[in-house]
Formats: sequence, structure tokens, C-alpha cells
Amino acid sequence: MAHREQWGSRIGLILAMAGNAVGLGNFLRFPVQAAQNGGGTFMIPYFVAFLLLAIPLMWVEWTIGRHGGKYGHGSLPGMFHVLWKHPAAKFVGMVGLFTSTIIMIYYAYIESWTLGFSFFSITQEYFGFSDFVSMSAFVDSYQGAGEGHFSGIGTSYIFLLITLGMNFFILYKGIAKGIEYFAKIAMPLLLLFGVFLAIWAFTIGTPDPVNHPDWSVGRGFAFLWNPNFGELSNASVWLAAAGQVFFTLSVGMGTLQAYASYLDSKADIALSGLSTASLNEFAEVIIGASIAIPIAVAFFGLDATKEIANAGSYDLGFVSMPVIFQKIPGLGAYLGFLWFFLLFFAGITSSVAMAQPIISFLKEQFDFSHKKATITVGLIVFIFVQFVVIFFEGGFLWELDYWAGTFGLVIVALIETIVLAWLFGMDKAWEELNRGADIRIPKIFYFIIKYVTPVYLFIILIYWSATEAWDQLMLKGIPADEVPYRWGARAMLIVFGVGLLIMIYKAWKRNGDKFISDKKIKD
Ligand code: PHE
Repeated sequence: MAHREQWGSRIGLILAMAGNAVGLGNFLRFPVQAAQNGGGTFMIPYFVAFLLLAIPLMWVEWTIGRHGGKYGHGSLPGMFHVLWKHPAAKFVGMVGLFTSTIIMIYYAYIESWTLGFSFFSITQEYFGFSDFVSMSAFVDSYQGAGEGHFSGIGTSYIFLLITLGMNFFILYKGIAKGIEYFAKIAMPLLLLFGVFLAIWAFTIGTPDPVNHPDWSVGRGFAFLWNPNFGELSNASVWLAAAGQVFFTLSVGMGTLQAYASYLDSKADIALSGLSTASLNEFAEVIIGASIAIPIAVAFFGLDATKEIANAGSYDLGFVSMPVIFQKIPGLGAYLGFLWFFLLFFAGITSSVAMAQPIISFLKEQFDFSHKKATITVGLIVFIFVQFVVIFFEGGFLWELDYWAGTFGLVIVALIETIVLAWLFGMDKAWEELNRGADIRIPKIFYFIIKYVTPVYLFIILIYWSATEAWDQLMLKGIPADEVPYRWGARAMLIVFGVGLLIMIYKAWKRNGDKFISDKKIKD
């Protein structure tokens, strides 16, 4: 019997899974999406997607993962193969390796900015850049995308190296001694920092009551929590909400499945999956929703906040927050540190998860030692991240984010639901999900998983393809000077996808169908 690592404790597992889910998505992406899509209007489709897509998919993924783990598989090609004994299954499973690894490549870069900026908060490096224009220039110059405080990307590159080093060190230490150990430290601290910042937000009130009586934290909360039912007919809001729910819960990436594969085959997944989802939502709609938007509304007003959100995905976090920290005498530097370090913890506990499927794949299918697999994946990420850094200005990162981090997730989710509920069979899937369960999942979820989730996903996909994805594919609205970079990013995606397919082909050639599906290592 092959030996496979396991999580050390239940709480450790939950924290690691929550670490996987809670990420930059909760604190940076969520506020921007909410602000761009009408605040309260966004929250209705958001909760609908949470209930009908995220919760069922969470269970689908834990089920696929724990089941795959019984056969020694930590990535989707092998997991699909044992569920759906068809020669195509393994190739279809490629998508799970694809989304997670591509996302890791650009996510690590953004994560490294948060480390850099927590450092710059303490050293007060950005203090003095106290308005939007100068702070934006500071951020741009850090990213090598413009003239400003930094004369090149050297500083940014150093933080990138430190970030990658930390990621692969944790991964090298393994499941229980690396990922779980780190999550047990980082997650409680992250929640503490988050709660602290949210409480601070509540104390801000109306900073300038004389000149701007309606610039207040309360106004920001009202914007987020007062639904506008009239806007609900706007399909793009529904798409954005579903996209956010996917991204934030790490659904459709193969990472939850990879983590679940390290569970004991009789361990509960029903309650654990639900707890992870709940923790993520706490971090998103309670903490995440109480920081960036309400604070920005208090200092800049609602209209300006919406404008900032529309300007760029990360401006709310990297430009407007630092401008605000500078307005808080004495405390600003520390608040800035807390904010960016919270982001860093959120980021790193997610990025290690993204590398796990491909590391497992190399170990399981090619007999790589853990060390060799970790180093290989580290090198792959290191090589490809160069393009993201160098071509950042050309929108390279955003192109990867669109296809892997937005579109790809929905594809993976649709495929895996069909594989589990229809090809493996919903009765067997239900039994598998409920084995060892510490809660009784309401039977209605049997039908939701089987019918509602896939139909919902299918509609999203069709609508998305017809409207957004098509325009994106045709590069509509993209400035002409970015076009070559965007195509460069696509070339990278294709090379990556084809490379993975070849590796899967080789793996099966090497190990054989039978070996892969018969090597049950746990009962
Ligand atoms: N869920 C993470 C976030 O909210 C992102 C993530 C993507 C995590 C892919 C794992 C895999 O930021």
C-alpha cells in the first residue's frame, strides 16, 4: 500500500481549507465586484449563487477529492478517471491542473505586492503620496508600469522572490507540517487583524461632517446592504456574482479536491465542507465588506468610490487605502501594516493550495519524490511568472485572470458536476458524500446537485460565452498597444494546456489505465 500523507487534525484541516478559500478574493476582489455591480443589487445574486452553486459545488469537490484520495489521486485527471471509466476522463481532468497552476502564476505576483506594501507601511515609504494621482503613480512605478518613486521593478522583484520562496518552503514541508501548520498560525491572526480593521472602520463615522456630511461609513454600508430590486434583471450582475462566488470559495480549481484527497476515507466531509464555506463567507461579507468600501466612502464619498472600483481591480486596496492611512496621524502606519499583512496571509494560504494539485500529480503519476516535485513546480512557476512581471503593463496578467480565473472556473465546475452526478451517478455520489457525515444534509441538495447546479452553470456559460467571453476573445475595448501582450498571454495558456495534455498522456502510457484505477490505497 502506497503511503499517503494525511491532515494532522480536524481543526487543522478546516483552517487549511479556509486558508485555501479565504484569499485576496475576499478583501480585494469582493469589494470591487460589489461596487461595480451596484452594491446591494449585487448581494442578492451573490447569495443565490452561494446557495445554489457554491454550497453544492463545495460538497461535490470534497466528495470527488476524498474519493480520489482512496486511489492515491490528488489531482483531477486521476480523480475523474476513477469516477468515470472512460478514456477521455483523464484528459478532461486536465482543466483542474490548468486553472490552479495558471492562477498560482499570477496570483503569487499580486500576493508579493501585499508583502511589499506591508513593509512600506511600516517604513512609511508611501507617506507623502497623499492623493490619488501620486499614490497611483507610486503603485505603477512599483509594478514597473510607469514613472514614479521606484525607478525599476527591482524592489518588486525582491518581494516576489521572497514570496515564492515562502510558498515553496511551506509546500516542501508538506501537508500536515507545512500547509496545516502554517494555516493554524496564519488564519487566526488573519481573522484577528480583519476583525480589528472592521471595528476601526465602524469608529470612523463621518470624518468631515462640515464639508461632506454624507461621506460616512454608514453610507458605505447602506450602499452594500440596501438591495435595488429593479436592477436584478441585469444579467451581467448575475454573472459577476457567480464569478465572485467561485473565485472566493476556490471552487472550480482542483484545489479543494486536492486538499480533500488527504482525508481519511471515512472522515466527515459534509460538515467540514459547510464549515469551510461559512468561514469564507464570514471573512468575505462580514469582514471584507466592512473594510475597503465603507472606509473609502467615508473618506471620498460614494461616487468617487465607485469610480475607483471601476478604474482597476486593485486600486481600492493598493491606492485608496494607503491614501487613507496617511490621513490617520500616528496610527496610519500600523493600520497599513495590518491591512497589507492581512492580505499577505490571505494570499499565501491560498497560493500554496494552487500548487498542490500539480505537485500531487507529479508525485503520483511520475513517482517524483516530494522534494523533486516541489522544486519542479517552483521552477515552472518561477519561469512563467517572468512573463507576468515583464509584460504586466500590457495587461498580460488580466488576460490570464480572465480565462483561467473567471471563465475556466465555470467550465471546471460544470464538468465536475456532470462527472460526479451523472457519469458516476447521483445515488452513489450521495452515498459517498454522506459517508461519515457529522450532519444530515437535507435531501433537497440531492436534487440541487443533480439538476439545479448543472443547469444554472450551463445557463451562465452560454450567456457568458455569448456576451462577455466573445467580446473578450475578440479583444473588444482593449487598447491597441495591449493587443500583442494579450495574444502573448493566450499563447502561454495554449502552451500550458497542451503541455498538460501531453503529460497526462505520458502518465497513462507509463502507468496504464488499470493501475491508475485499481490501486486503491484506503478503504
Ligand atoms: N479563493 C481564493 C481567494 O479568494 C483564490 C483561490 C484561487 C484559491 C484558486 C485557491 C485556488 O482569493
